[in-house]
Amino acid sequence: MIQENCKVASHVAISGGYSYLSLEAPGMAASAAPGQFVHVRVPGLEETAIRRPFSIFDARDGILTLLYKNVGRGTAALSKIAPGDAVDVLGPLGHGFPLKCSGTALLVGGGFGVAPLYFLARRLKEAGHADIVLFAGGRTAQDLLALDRFEALGVEARVATNDGSAGAQGLVTVPLDGCTAQLSKDGKAFEFFACGPDPMLKAVASRAVESGAKGWISMDRHMVCGVGACYACIQKTVRGNSRCCIEGPVFSAADLVW
Ligand SMILES: Cc1cc2nc3c(=O)[nH]c(=O)nc-3n(C[C@H](O)[C@H](O)[C@H](O)COP(=O)(O)OP(=O)(O)OC[C@H]3O[C@@H](n4cnc5c(N)ncnc54)[C@H](O)[C@@H]3O)c2cc1C
Ligand code: FES
Repeated sequence: MIQENCKVASHVAISGGYSYLSLEAPGMAASAAPGQFVHVRVPGLEETAIRRPFSIFDARDGILTLLYKNVGRGTAALSKIAPGDAVDVLGPLGHGFPLKCSGTALLVGGGFGVAPLYFLARRLKEAGHADIVLFAGGRTAQDLLALDRFEALGVEARVATNDGSAGAQGLVTVPLDGCTAQLSKDGKAFEFFACGPDPMLKAVASRAVESGAKGWISMDRHMVCGVGACYACIQKTVRGNSRCCIEGPVFSAADLVW
């Protein structure tokens, strides 16, 4: 774990209140793994001492990129920082996704939940794993993020929105179920990798357990210290209470208790 005072390399707002924030963080970028997160002390809110956790969207060439949504006080303050400003960042933290997969890797992301899945897809591709499909869901088309970047990696995306403004109308589990049914019929193996809102994660985890496939679920829990000291981020598992910040955020679907 490293604490770096990172210079903002770029900060680009996209639609729907989402932004990409790239930071000069050579130490963290070199050691980061997909599914890990960073804990950011937001400039302008230092007096609260509480950092905000964000998944690592990408890490390469000394640059760490985050994809975040402006939802409250901390992210509103974060949205105001400009290239050249300095940000105090702690990371990389937590336990990420496995970097191998048997059969097709089914990446399931809701809203900003695609953030750790992009880094994962890039690393899996670099490791020679060709069979990756992204299932992205959101309330509207504006919540379907980074699809151009997945496409540039050569990852096929199947999308669903609640209002039908892009892709299939309804939940992302609809195209997901179609795909797993076809793979099962063809006798092909698959694994699930998911990040997003709890109902989506629960739905993916239950599909993993019921199908006997492996499932890797990144849990989003409110965090305070981010390093295992405060027990604010408890997730129930078959082994008892686990701290999301150090035992997670990625857990095996079979271990989670909902
Ligand atoms: C491991 C991990 C990885 C994360 N990765 C990302 C990411 O890549 N991109 C991103 O945009 N966000 C991510 N989050 C969520 C992000 O940390 C919160 O949105 C942020 O802390 C909110 O801070 P705030 O002060 O702006 O909001 P607050 O003022 O604290 O809260 C505003 C609203 O956001 C809700 N909220 C607060 N914390 C969370 C949370 N952890 N998850 C969902 N809703 C929350 C509150 O219930 C409230 O409704 C991640 C969280 C965790 C635990
Ligand atoms: S956030 Fe403090 S133990 Fe996880």
